[in-house]
Amino acid sequence: MAETLLEIRDLNVRYTTDGIIARAVNHVDLNIEAGEIFGLVGETGAGKTTIALASMGLLPRYTSQVEGSIKFKGREIAGANENVLRDIRGKNISMIFQDPMTSLNPVFPVGTQIGDVIKWHNKSLSKAEVETQVDEILKMVGIAPERKREYPHQFSGGMKQRVMIAIAIVCKPDLLIADEPTTALDVTIQAQVMMTMRNLQKQLGSSVLLITHDLGLVAMFCDKVSVLYGGEIVEHGALEDIFDNSRSHHPYTVGLFGSLPDLHSRASRLNPIAGLMPHPAELPAGCKFHPRCPERMEKCQTGEVGASSSGTHSIKCHLFA
Ligand SMILES: Nc1ncnc2c1ncn2[C@@H]1O[C@H](COP(=O)(O)OP(=O)(O)O)[C@@H](O)[C@H]1O
Ligand SMILES: [Mg+2]
Repeated sequence: MAETLLEIRDLNVRYTTDGIIARAVNHVDLNIEAGEIFGLVGETGAGKTTIALASMGLLPRYTSQVEGSIKFKGREIAGANENVLRDIRGKNISMIFQDPMTSLNPVFPVGTQIGDVIKWHNKSLSKAEVETQVDEILKMVGIAPERKREYPHQFSGGMKQRVMIAIAIVCKPDLLIADEPTTALDVTIQAQVMMTMRNLQKQLGSSVLLITHDLGLVAMFCDKVSVLYGGEIVEHGALEDIFDNSRSHHPYTVGLFGSLPDLHSRASRLNPIAGLMPHPAELPAGCKFHPRCPERMEKCQTGEVGASSSGTHSIKCHLFA
């Protein structure tokens, strides 16, 4: 049995702004094991980033409320104090954010920014040792070490994202959370960044939580997949479960597939799901997807929906109960 790194149980996250309560994450369970690439998929507003931030202990302190358990190698993160969290962040779990432009500091050379992270985690290293590590990590992400004296604005978007990856992995975290790491990049660069991440994952043996709205990326890189809608996991399985057309799927997953371009026919087959993801302050009763669901039944409009599983595959929908 592989070691469980991240174990999330019955996670609920609410945001309160001006007295309005947004239920962003609802009863989420999630398990990431050592060495695997786990895909978390869903449209904007599904609650993906909230789950990532909760796992890093980075949710806004005064406006968010967390219930449930988030364990990293058995150590509780939900409600942990800042010392515990600081210890876990960077060394055990690190995160790449969506927008590399806003995550790098424009006034320091990229090498300095990588070096600072190395120093923070190994205070006893000499200056020369830090420099050697900076060079090594830059080489690993495919950037010539000579460029470490340059500033972020001298780098392309793809290179900036690779610098962010370098910063995130320089302390060899057990788990790398990549939150839409390629969304701001064009398709060719996207592929390069993903390959960089996968090679590093193989070299370091780290696990990756890949957060994306792009099922294509999931198909190429992930071992397991959870589909998130309205803050709930509506379908989960091994990659083979989710991408097997002969199996049953949640109508929302079917909709996500419908909005993928079809590789086998030249005609574009883009059928985005009609309607919008509900705002978490106005989640509908019953199944949260029912207002958009082409298969909805009377009973979908009220009450809780249980999950039914077969082997590694589970679906939260009355069609399969
Ligand atoms: N700090 C916050 N305060 C209030 N609402 C928030 C905050 N952050 C996110 N939300 C809301 O929570 C929902 C989920 O957001 P998020 O986790 O960012 O989803 P995703 O990453 O899937 O797009 C959204 O409706 C968003 O508007
Ligand atoms: Mg997000």
